[in-house]
Amino acid sequence: MSSESADPTAERPPDGASFDFRAPLCLSARLTLPGRAVLSPMQGVMTRTFLQAAARLDLIPCWFTPFFSTGGVSVPKRAAILRKLAPYRIHPGLPVIFQLIGRDASSLAATAAGFAEHGVHGINLNFACPSKTVTASGNGASLLKHPARIGKLTKAVREVVPRDVSVSVKLRAGWDSPDILRDTVRAVCDAGADWIVFHYRTASEGYGSVDASERFRRIASAVDAAGSVPLFGNGDVADCAGANELVRETGCAGVAVGRAFLSDPWLVRRILSGDVNPASGEEKAAFLRLLLEGTDSTKRGRNWFLECIKMAFGADSGEFREARESDWDTLRARWS
Ligand SMILES: Cc1cc2nc3c(=O)[nH]c(=O)nc-3n(C[C@H](O)[C@H](O)[C@H](O)COP(=O)(O)O)c2cc1C
Repeated sequence: MSSESADPTAERPPDGASFDFRAPLCLSARLTLPGRAVLSPMQGVMTRTFLQAAARLDLIPCWFTPFFSTGGVSVPKRAAILRKLAPYRIHPGLPVIFQLIGRDASSLAATAAGFAEHGVHGINLNFACPSKTVTASGNGASLLKHPARIGKLTKAVREVVPRDVSVSVKLRAGWDSPDILRDTVRAVCDAGADWIVFHYRTASEGYGSVDASERFRRIASAVDAAGSVPLFGNGDVADCAGANELVRETGCAGVAVGRAFLSDPWLVRRILSGDVNPASGEEKAAFLRLLLEGTDSTKRGRNWFLECIKMAFGADSGEFREARESDWDTLRARWS
């Protein structure tokens, strides 16, 4: 369906009414999102320990994985695919949307087909990662300079992945300007993407501040360009009220939450159920306790846990300062 014939505001709730985040969203025969809020992928944060803790507390209704890089032109072997999927088998009932990064159409398509064959429910293509190590090789967000190339990659994947597996993309608003965001969104829709997750910042904006009205304007423009293809807004959704506001202001079909999940591990569940309460200290601590339980005392383990504390309480918080200055035993005593 063309964007011209669709009404992008069809699901927008009237002022004052709240959007039904619980409404399932069927994206393909194999993938129905259980609701309109997902945990946005976070490479380095969503470790096996994180996934186990989230599964134990039943925090997530659907896995959306951090990216796996197809690394040039190679295609992973069956054993590598199974290894990558193993951590997501802890909750066999949950759909898995597996994210790939790549810039070579044939290896990206072959890799996507390999993961589809091994039971993932959806493939997501990452054209959003602004990390220098990713963009220096022409991957991730650097492709935002070339909407047509993004379209070709999406089409190549769509053509080889069975129709019952959903193909979606993760976008930022642009490389160094949001000027061509509509071209990018149209390119992926024309290529057959059936879902878009859209982070409103450009790659060069990193995680810097952008005016609130500009945030809404960009997401609304992407929603409009996407027409009938559902688009989830992403970036700075911190609570249930923020999720409702984003849908109301932009007409997006749902939200993806990233960093705020650490400060409220029940955030996805809360948004889905319309629970406007903030996370209690005990709720935050319950998740952090489980994270620490699965963390070893290596420098890497400790740094990862500190990163989680930072995301949970903020870089300027007393909790983070105290944790940074603590040795391992003190850290364990405090968070066990
Ligand atoms: C540590 C970290 C790792 C991330 N890794 C990924 C990733 O693997 N794939 C991806 O699409 N986005 C990744 N992101 C981006 C988030 O999914 C999300 O788009 C971004 O943080 C904005 O949402 P937020 O403001 O709710 O955090 C990452 C973000 C962070 C902070």
